[in-house]
Amino acid sequence: MKERTFVAIKPDAVKRKLIGKIIERFENKGFEIVAMKMIKLNRELAEKYYEEHKGKEFYERLINFMMSGRMIVMVIEGENAISVVRKMIGKTNPSEAEPGTIRGDFALTTPDNVIHASDSKESAEREIKLFFKDDEIFSE
Ligand code: CMP
Repeated sequence: MKERTFVAIKPDAVKRKLIGKIIERFENKGFEIVAMKMIKLNRELAEKYYEEHKGKEFYERLINFMMSGRMIVMVIEGENAISVVRKMIGKTNPSEAEPGTIRGDFALTTPDNVIHASDSKESAEREIKLFFKDDEIFSE
């Protein structure tokens, strides 16, 4: 089933100049990038984005990290995009992420784990809406 998912290349990866290497993996796999922009999160948007983690021990660290620099946000479209992209990025804790996954190859710690991708249809819809207007998304 053709799906859309939301992907963010986090501030640590932008600083480390990994944007091209990460995007290349999704294009090589056959996905279409149907929306993309560079942004810097303010506190309000960062808190909305990660509202499900409010109250967790790492929440403040996560919010401060996500506001620490520019990010790339994008919408990726393709067959089973949500689960396939999650597989490609690897486990949240990069020290447990398999080599060959994006976090497995480029990250070692949290919250600076290089990339985020939606974990369900509901979160994909919510996250896409948070960052993109309908007319900023280009359908194939
Ligand atoms: P992400 O996939 O964007 O979803 C939530 C984020 O919280 C996660 O990636 C990490 O950046 C961060 N995170 C999750 N668990 C921890 C943790 N134990 N300590 C610090 N940050 C975490």
